[in-house]
Amino acid sequence: MTLKSLTYTSLASLDLTSEDVENILRSAREQNAIEGITGLLVFNGTHFMQVVEGSTQAIDDLVERLRRDRRHSGVEIRDQREIQERFFPDWTMELVRVKSRYREAQQRLRTALPEALPPAVGERLVAMTASISGDVDLVD
Ligand SMILES: Cc1cc2nc3c(=O)[nH]c(=O)nc-3n(C[C@H](O)[C@H](O)[C@H](O)COP(=O)(O)O)c2cc1C
Repeated sequence: MTLKSLTYTSLASLDLTSEDVENILRSAREQNAIEGITGLLVFNGTHFMQVVEGSTQAIDDLVERLRRDRRHSGVEIRDQREIQERFFPDWTMELVRVKSRYREAQQRLRTALPEALPPAVGERLVAMTASISGDVDLVD
């Protein structure tokens, strides 16, 4: 079966509470277990970055639901590719909370990623946190 991996970023709605995020995670895990979707959800307090992987149909359907979801807006697809095997086989959805500062977000994400993840994939995700970070200071 062809697998698709898709990464997007979005802006959390202003009134989103920590409890809302927990609810998103809980129902995402339930739904993803049924749909055969796995992945990673990064939240920095204002923005989301999410990797979802599964059958092309399951991922395309999820993206449609995500675009209608009022708990966030500005869903922007950053990467989509065909994959041979899952990058996050053990996670029906894993939440990683990071700081809004780029450097701290990068460091936190690095430690949270699965050990078996190909380094190039991990570095691509870590670099992508720049697009949701409020304070991108590449130079010390
Ligand atoms: C940041 C964010 C991440 C989400 N991740 C998932 C997910 O991984 N899987 C999922 O089924 N729904 C996820 N949802 C919820 C979907 O947008 C949608 O509400 C849910 O699939 C139910 O859709 P329905 O009400 O149209 O049936 C997420 C929502 C948000 C705001």
